[in-house]
Amino acid sequence: MPSVYFQTFGCQMNAADSDAVRDLLFRRGFTLGATHDESDLIVVNTCSVREAAERRAKSRIAEFARGKKRRRGQRLWVIGCMAQRLGDALAAEIPGVDLVVGAGQIGRMDEVIDAQFPARPADGGDRPPSEIFSKTAASDFVPIMRGCDNFCAYCVVPYVRGREQSMPYDDIEAAVKKKVDAGIKEVTFLGQNVNSYSHNGIDFPELLRGMARIGGLERIRFTTSHPKDCTERLIDVMASSRKFASHIHLPAQAGSDRVLGLMNRGYTSSSYVGLLDMIRKHIPYADITSDLLVGFPTESGAEFRETLELAREARFTAAFMFAYSPREGTAAAAMPETIDRTEKMARLSELIDLQTGITREIYDSAVGTELEVLITERQRKRDRAWMGQDAGCKRVLINCDGLESGMIIKARAVGSSGMTLLAEKKQCFMSTFKTL
Ligand code: SAH
Ligand code: SF4
Ligand code: F3S
Repeated sequence: MPSVYFQTFGCQMNAADSDAVRDLLFRRGFTLGATHDESDLIVVNTCSVREAAERRAKSRIAEFARGKKRRRGQRLWVIGCMAQRLGDALAAEIPGVDLVVGAGQIGRMDEVIDAQFPARPADGGDRPPSEIFSKTAASDFVPIMRGCDNFCAYCVVPYVRGREQSMPYDDIEAAVKKKVDAGIKEVTFLGQNVNSYSHNGIDFPELLRGMARIGGLERIRFTTSHPKDCTERLIDVMASSRKFASHIHLPAQAGSDRVLGLMNRGYTSSSYVGLLDMIRKHIPYADITSDLLVGFPTESGAEFRETLELAREARFTAAFMFAYSPREGTAAAAMPETIDRTEKMARLSELIDLQTGITREIYDSAVGTELEVLITERQRKRDRAWMGQDAGCKRVLINCDGLESGMIIKARAVGSSGMTLLAEKKQCFMSTFKTL
């Protein structure tokens, strides 16, 4: 049987897309190859969000392309956001790339694969779930919308992913039920801006309400929420059922109103802080996480300190922090780059130091509390150490026999490393949450 090897860069949407392409190939008899050398097909799913992401993907693709000569007949496909941005120029730049399929064409991948492997028709059936989900039996992603209409000035995503498109409610429900039947306990709904989900009059809070009724689905997460579209109705729904994780990822990007305006984010620092207060009023223990971007064109030192101030006030459980990288074709790429790389990196490391300290304080203060942990994976082969996640977004390590991924257990946090909680099992239960 032919085998395929995946290398996926970028966000969770890319991970979900790779899984979808993998399933299409499985239906044509492919198996997963253990290494790229041994595989008949290599698929690289790429990201364009920062220049470094493209550089990394390109060097990996070039490496695969060079290695190809060693095995006759091996094919190399490049898909995803960079494939969309550069198109066939990518194949011209890196000889050895056989096929380039942009993120916008992922929905047509079935036809593309048929054209590439005419002798391998899909059998129409699915492989046994145990085979597909053997790596993480606990949690999986479900895209509910694609694309983005927000055009934040720095961001390439609307260009490579196109306009917002929400999926029909029934299709989402069917996808979730299929995963639950296969043993998945937790789903994460994905979109560049899930709050703007809208299909046939159903909006995001209503979609969530419906999904919480699905029996056997124990935990629901979603990402990413845009602050300008995060309503009290949404937070109300989150607070209405224990099935919803008490976690929201709400990228703030910056603390200065002038910079937020230039970024085209549609909120101010104080309206953002007001949003956090509203969320914490409904869900006092909510883990709130963020993305923060430093070194946006013309950001002054004082404006950067407003980002530090915001992070101090917001007390994010964790944040992804980035140095601005100009992306061709975006509005910000036309602005003067006023901050050199050294200064950008200095700002980034100051921010990271601050946030790392806040994350540590939040983890440390959870010691002694009771947690509900979804066990997701064994830390090392045959070890008794298991990784999981609490009802918010905290990583939890439990040393215990008799656990399995997919279990939800009650545990007590007994220690903290500053970015992981160490916990002891109290009792194991398969939850019987009341539906809405
Ligand atoms: N849709 C999501 C984010 C997608 S990109 C949202 O709106 O939150 C993930 C993060 O990458 C962004 O939140 C931003 O912080 C960062 N990012 C996007 N473009 C960037 C750029 N040009 N340079 C550096 N970081 C960038
Ligand atoms: Fe990019 Fe902004 Fe859209 Fe997020 S909301 S994907 S940051 S344009
Ligand atoms: Fe990257 Fe595309 Fe995601 S640009 S962040 S992989 S949507």
